[in-house]
Amino acid sequence: MHFLKMDGIMGLFHSVILVIALVVVGESRVVKVPIGPLVRVEGQAVSIRCDVSNHELPRDQDFEWFMVLAGDKLLPLVSTFDNTFTDPTVKDRVNSGDIGYKRLGDNAVELIFKKVRATDSGLYRCSTPSTDSVISGNYDADVELKVIGDSLKVSSAIPKSAVSEGESVELQCNATRGFTEYTFLSVTWSIRKGNGPLEEILTFGPDHKITVGSSYTQLYTDGGLRLDLHGGGFYGLVLKRAKLSDQGVYVCTAREWVRQGGGGRIWRKILEKSEEMGKVVVTKIMMEIKLTGQWMSNMFYEGCEP
Ligand SMILES: *[C@@H]1O[C@H](CO)[C@@H](O)[C@H](O)[C@H]1NC(C)=O
Repeated sequence: MHFLKMDGIMGLFHSVILVIALVVVGESRVVKVPIGPLVRVEGQAVSIRCDVSNHELPRDQDFEWFMVLAGDKLLPLVSTFDNTFTDPTVKDRVNSGDIGYKRLGDNAVELIFKKVRATDSGLYRCSTPSTDSVISGNYDADVELKVIGDSLKVSSAIPKSAVSEGESVELQCNATRGFTEYTFLSVTWSIRKGNGPLEEILTFGPDHKITVGSSYTQLYTDGGLRLDLHGGGFYGLVLKRAKLSDQGVYVCTAREWVRQGGGGRIWRKILEKSEEMGKVVVTKIMMEIKLTGQWMSNMFYEGCEP
């Protein structure tokens, strides 16, 4: 009884000190990880950053990363100061460098997966052991990692690939993915003329945004490019009134994106696949007739000149 009473008094005493310290110092430790879920693709490299600020000395802080299992059980992964920290079940991956960390500075580290696995999906906790004289603020932060499979598929068709000048060309590109929650698609149509570089015509997405390639802005403004979207993964681009300069090899590129950063405003590409749609040949018919006519009339006039 007596001891309990003493503990109670000591506890109260500590709480009072904590409150005073908070008021006096006015700052408390902040441990920060990115806002999740972080959606990444199986087999890719993944890094998750953790920052600590508003802490007391020492300047260089230590970090521990855990995976949070069911029932709030913690699986120790890597530590910046304790090399006996790693759980035996992940030791092989840590020893081989498949799971590790990289120090980015005194106040920041990254948890790194060289080739992330589907089973790595879950909650991760970054924790900074206290170096403060008074416990204040947060000492750990959690972020969810979602590892998805590579399910992006691209197929394409050009129903009519040999056209006369002035006719339209339909460039059909189908792009689908299996996992649609949190991910967004973009489709880009490009052309390669001869041995030249790939030139972007137009990009639809992510999130219905339209971006027009620099050499196609005038054509787009003039209504020479029309998007033909049926849904169900079908993305069509119609080049109305083909010109001779539209002859070339067309390529369709699908990209899968996730949002990240402050308020999810930054796009991060997680997958990209391209398919050559085929060659479009544009024949000059009208021009030949005109030139021939002109040539004949020239001949005629030359012949009649005195
Ligand atoms: C694209 O998808 C449509 C249906 O959405 C289908 O009819 C067409 O055959 C597909 N084209 C290619 C090239 O996969």
